[in-house]
Amino acid sequence: MVTALSTPNIAFIKYWGNRNAELRLPATDSLSMTLDSPTVEVTIEPADRFSVQSQKELSPKEVERFKKHLELTNIYLHSLHYSLPTTNYSLTVRSKIPPAIGLASSAAVFSAVAKAYAALLEEQDIRLTDEQVSILARLGSGSAARSIIGGFVALQTTHYSLQTDAIDSAIAVQIAPASHWPLHDIVICPSLQEKEHGSTEGHHLAHTSPHYAERLLQIPRRQQECIDAILGGDFEKLQKVAEEDAWDLHQVAKTSTPSLQYLTEDTHRITREVTALREAEHVAVLYTMDAGPTVHLVCTEDAVDAVKEFAHAQKDCTVFETKVWSGARMVEAAHA
Ligand code: DP6
Repeated sequence: MVTALSTPNIAFIKYWGNRNAELRLPATDSLSMTLDSPTVEVTIEPADRFSVQSQKELSPKEVERFKKHLELTNIYLHSLHYSLPTTNYSLTVRSKIPPAIGLASSAAVFSAVAKAYAALLEEQDIRLTDEQVSILARLGSGSAARSIIGGFVALQTTHYSLQTDAIDSAIAVQIAPASHWPLHDIVICPSLQEKEHGSTEGHHLAHTSPHYAERLLQIPRRQQECIDAILGGDFEKLQKVAEEDAWDLHQVAKTSTPSLQYLTEDTHRITREVTALREAEHVAVLYTMDAGPTVHLVCTEDAVDAVKEFAHAQKDCTVFETKVWSGARMVEAAHA
C-alpha cells in the first residue's frame, strides 16, 4: 500500500485545448505556481478488480477516467520497459477540495495518483524522474502534470519533441523553486456549486471559438513574458500578462459553440474591486480565474494582509489561504 499527497496549482498562462485529446497533449505551453493547499491524499493498493473510493459517490464516467488513466500509465511505463507490480488496484481518494469550483481538483487528484503509482515502482527499485511522473499525471489531467513539481512550473509541449504526438511529448519543468518568490494565492469562491461544464469539455470546444487561432499565436510571447517576470521577480509584469491571459481564455470559452460562461456577476465585481484596491493602495495583487467563477488573488508577502482582509470581507464567499510550495510527495512508504 502506498499513499501520496498533492495539491492544486494556479496557472498564469493557461492550458486550453489539446492537440491530442486522448493523451492530453496540450495545444500550447502553460505556466503555473504550485499551491500548498487544499490537499488531496491518494492511497493505492493491489486488488482483485479495479475500484476507486472517495468521499463523494463517483459516476461511472468518473471511475472510467481513473481506469483509462491506469491503461495509459501502463502504456507509458511499458515504453520505458517498466511495469506496475499487478494489473488491478484499489484507489482511495481523500480530498479537502470542494469539487468542480475551478480550484483544480483534477490536477491535485491525478498528480497524487501519478505520484502513488511512482511509489509502487519504487518498491521495485525503479525511480522515475519528476518529468516522467509529470507525464503520468498529465495522462489523467493536463494541468496535473504541473502539480508534480514545486514552485513555478511550465508544462512544455511545443519545444520538447519532434514527434508531436508521442506520449511523452509534453512534460512539466521547473522554472524556479518555491523559495525563489514567496507568493500567496488567496482564493475566493463565490459559489460551491458544481459547475455545468468541466474543463475537459472546454478543451474539446476551444477550436470552435473564432478567437482561438489568435490565442495560439499569442501564447509563446505570453509564456516567455511570464517566465521573465518570474525569474526577474517583476510583479507588475506578471500581473499584466496573467490577467491578459485569463481574460483571453474566458473570451475563447464564451465564444465557443456552445458558449461556456464560467464567470458570474460576482467574479466580475471582485475583479473590479481588486483593480480599484491595487490602484488606490498600490497593493501587489493580480487576479486570475480558471474554469469557474472562483477568483484567485495572487500577491506578494508585503500585500498578503491587505488581500486577506479584502477576501474575508466578501459576503457569502468561501476563502482559501494558500501559498507557493514544493510539490507532490509520497507520504507513506510501502511496507515490507
Ligand atoms: C482553465 O487540466 O482541468 O484550469 O486535462 O481535462 O483535466 P483536463 O483539464 P484541466 O484543464 C485546466 C484548465 C484551466 C487552465 C490551467 O490550469 O492551465
